[in-house]
Amino acid sequence: MSTREGKAPYEDVLMFLAICVIGGAYCYYSNREIPPFMNSLDQQQASPSVATKSKPLKASDHFSDHKHHLLLAATGSVATIKIPLILHALSHHTNLSVRLILSNSARQFLQAQSAEQPSLEEISKIKNLDGIYFDEDEWAKPWVRGDSILHIELRRWVDLLVVAPLSANGLAKVSQGFSDNLVTSVIRAWDFSGLIDGARPGVKLPYDSGKSAKDLEGLPEEFRAGGRKGIIVAPAMNTAMWKHPVTEKQLAVLEDEWGVANGGWFKVLRPMEKMLACGDTGSGAMRDWKEIVRVIEQRLELGGDADDDVKKG
Ligand SMILES: *[C@@H]1O[C@H](CO)[C@@H](O)[C@H](O)[C@H]1NC(C)=O
Repeated sequence: MSTREGKAPYEDVLMFLAICVIGGAYCYYSNREIPPFMNSLDQQQASPSVATKSKPLKASDHFSDHKHHLLLAATGSVATIKIPLILHALSHHTNLSVRLILSNSARQFLQAQSAEQPSLEEISKIKNLDGIYFDEDEWAKPWVRGDSILHIELRRWVDLLVVAPLSANGLAKVSQGFSDNLVTSVIRAWDFSGLIDGARPGVKLPYDSGKSAKDLEGLPEEFRAGGRKGIIVAPAMNTAMWKHPVTEKQLAVLEDEWGVANGGWFKVLRPMEKMLACGDTGSGAMRDWKEIVRVIEQRLELGGDADDDVKKG
């Protein structure tokens, strides 16, 4: 305490209070950015209702709901702000159940900071959306034998996974088999063979497993229709990132080795050319969200009114 000699004991307290007042005033008057501690408060306030809607998931509870199961995911990119538009556009389908995964960075784009970026609370009210999941939901409580594992339950539950946007980092991870968060764990655990999960009663799986009629004959009933689950990704990134030679290598894995066009389970909706959020013009922007909606509707055979809806906007 020798360095503090000569100070009155309450000086530190006064200094602390002064910092609080100045800091608080700064945050209050600078309208530009939500300080990080307020962000976490927002999340705490938003989480109870989001959580009760999301947890716990047991895929077997939804086995016979006669609905198509769409898992929508966003990994950190500005294009995450299209997620509410995609959800709204899919909300009128009567036989669709949607669950949403937001990566930690994607979540930052949906914090009620503008009209096109509603809060998660608001988003959770959109019809057909039956759950929102974050990375930490995987570890919501210390695991004991008998507990379900979220990324496996989501994999069992889903018919079609759509990652829109898939960030540059997300593309790199997926193409190399990394599984360090919830969405990449679902992708890593995928039933690419079409021989693990099978089809649910009355609901066709979106892709073909490529097995011959003879092969299918000998299989258990849920596999006999020859369906397979699928993953559609819509990459979005800065032009320079998109043009980088490593992108083509990673896309080749998804499109050539694992692509549906070659009998696989992956489909890439390549970016389009436009002015990007960072100010650069060029390719790298996520495919138009309306087109993503149309692809989902066609893939899940959600009904023929899709095109009209897109035109009506
Ligand atoms: C869901 O509804 C659409 C449109 O009515 C229909 O084409 C599709 O077969 C339905 N799917 C299931 C699983 O009932």
